[in-house]
Amino acid sequence: MRKQIVAGNWKMNKTFEEADELLFELAEGIEPIELENVEVVICPPALYLEMSTDVGLENGFSVGAQNCSNKEGGAYTGEISAEMLKSLDVDYCIVGHSERRKYFKETAQELAEKVNLLLDNDITPIFCCGEVIEERDQNIHFQVVQKQIENSLFHLTDDEMANVVIAYEPVWAIGTGRTATSDQAQEMHAFIRQILKGKYGNELAEGLSVIYGGSCNAQNARELFAQPDVDGGLIGGASLNAADFLTIIKSVK
Ligand code: PGA
Repeated sequence: MRKQIVAGNWKMNKTFEEADELLFELAEGIEPIELENVEVVICPPALYLEMSTDVGLENGFSVGAQNCSNKEGGAYTGEISAEMLKSLDVDYCIVGHSERRKYFKETAQELAEKVNLLLDNDITPIFCCGEVIEERDQNIHFQVVQKQIENSLFHLTDDEMANVVIAYEPVWAIGTGRTATSDQAQEMHAFIRQILKGKYGNELAEGLSVIYGGSCNAQNARELFAQPDVDGGLIGGASLNAADFLTIIKSVK
């Protein structure tokens, strides 16, 4: 069975004290949950990574960054390298979130560079892809997602690709309360697996976790995760509340 992943993307939310409190609530709540078939990943703002990895190591969850530099190191004011993340025991990093593509103009080439540096440092990239509403309306959403994956991931070797997680996040569903239906999610996830099969073969594609993001919450998670090609979720808003996030973790098949 493929690894099921529930990742919480806190985005630019929470003060230090609030983050500390949420981590405490999560640690308490995760303890009694049977985590055998689910990997929980908390992705806090970079400032809180160190305290998160401390709590995570003790309480059975992993920690991910929300972004990293596409440069290895050096004179890049304000940037954080993959190597620095690894030195804090960070095991995952979100790459190519639609907010970064949109507001920070991240290009497919830069995302490919980030993926390379993360893999060099044994950090699993959570690679985000997904169409905007106009693209779905024009019925080109499959091509859009295919191009995003091809342009930033298809240079990877088999061994490298096997260490990537893909997050399908339709942009129109992010933070809007308008989630994809479970059929829409399943359809795209199956398509993603199909294109991975074409390039990397059946075994690798069947083993890769493809998670869903976009207004996934405590109410709809179970139905989304029940789909055969949906291997968990990348959760924004609902990950800021411990009770909701814990319910989502328990919704994994
Ligand atoms: P949302 O965000 O759950 O608030 O829609 C998901 C994401 O951006 O990863």
